[in-house]
Amino acid sequence: MCRPVFVFAVLLAAYLSDQFVLITCSIVQNYRPIIGILAQENLEEDLYAQGSSYIAASYVKYIEGAGGRVIPIRINQTSEEYVKIFNSINGLLLPGGDVDLQKSAFSRAAKIFYDLAIKANDVSDYFPIWGTCQGMQQLTVLTSNKNLLTLTNTKAVALPLTFTQGAQNSRLFKNFPKDLLQSLEVENITSNYHSWSLSLQNYSQSVKLKRFYKVLTTNSDGRKEFISTMEAYHYPFYAVQWHPEKSPFEWIDKPGMIHTDSAIRASFYTSLFFISEAMKSQHRFPLPSEEEKALIYNYSPVFCGLDSIFIQNYYFD
Ligand SMILES: *[C@@H]1O[C@H](CO)[C@@H](O)[C@H](O)[C@H]1NC(C)=O
Ligand SMILES: *[C@@H]1O[C@H](CO)[C@@H](O)[C@H](O)[C@H]1NC(C)=O
Ligand SMILES: *[C@@H]1O[C@H](CO)[C@@H](O)[C@H](O)[C@H]1NC(C)=O
Repeated sequence: MCRPVFVFAVLLAAYLSDQFVLITCSIVQNYRPIIGILAQENLEEDLYAQGSSYIAASYVKYIEGAGGRVIPIRINQTSEEYVKIFNSINGLLLPGGDVDLQKSAFSRAAKIFYDLAIKANDVSDYFPIWGTCQGMQQLTVLTSNKNLLTLTNTKAVALPLTFTQGAQNSRLFKNFPKDLLQSLEVENITSNYHSWSLSLQNYSQSVKLKRFYKVLTTNSDGRKEFISTMEAYHYPFYAVQWHPEKSPFEWIDKPGMIHTDSAIRASFYTSLFFISEAMKSQHRFPLPSEEEKALIYNYSPVFCGLDSIFIQNYYFD
């Protein structure tokens, strides 16, 4: 893909230096991408909690396992603080959880980043967003300006994906190995842990959602068909209702938790894809010292026990 700004700069340089320059249209890859993961309110009466907000460590490992580094984005920061962070990171991950999608501090921060990402991408400043479970639900609320979700019977169940026609030439699935797509289609390897879903019906009736997102996979709880994977048509925004990070990194012994090799490969291909998108972003911290201070390595995850839905959490005040 060509960035107009980049091409213009090359043309200008060619003109000024009065030399012939062969314009090869390629984006410089950023092989040190940093992903911001948004924290959220800690609503549980949590024995292990060491702060009023948290990030499940599985999301951090998910990014790290695919060649990205992580900074936590804390809730309740000022807009100015969020703008600074936005200009320093190469992608945003909105994780799963259980907060209010219109009133929480999580949703406020998500909206600020979403609006910044729209503006940035509109001027060819590539900035990807990945939403998982609640993160996907949050994206639907941000795009439609409404909560169009509906209750489904999808707590603790592993499902096979039903691919749409459009999935084949989607950015997200295009480079998945054929046998992995086959596994995703016929094996029950995607972990579903949600009460709310975007039904195909409400998606189809929302002009905003329909114009913005392309449906890649669907699932059903037996009564309602809902969207399980989607990507935006014109923005590098991706969303899964299922949990790719759980298979390799969460260990609660419950139905819907799948640790087969195909489930772990599926997880890896999604994170690898997201990181390859983040590599197209050139954002960076103004100073190495600021980067150092922001990275997740400054925090230690807390082991929450084998019965916890998240085996380790990062806690923040
Ligand atoms: C965020 O701000 C709200 C409202 O002021 C407050 O109730 C909440 O405790 C704060 N949470 C964190 C994690 O700072
Ligand atoms: C559609 O969205 C509304 C909220 O606006 C919700 O009450 C309703 O259950 C949804 N219906 C379906 C079938 O998803
Ligand atoms: C896999 O999920 C489907 C629902 O899509 C269900 O009908 C089937 O029983 C599940 N198979 C297993 C082995 O759990």
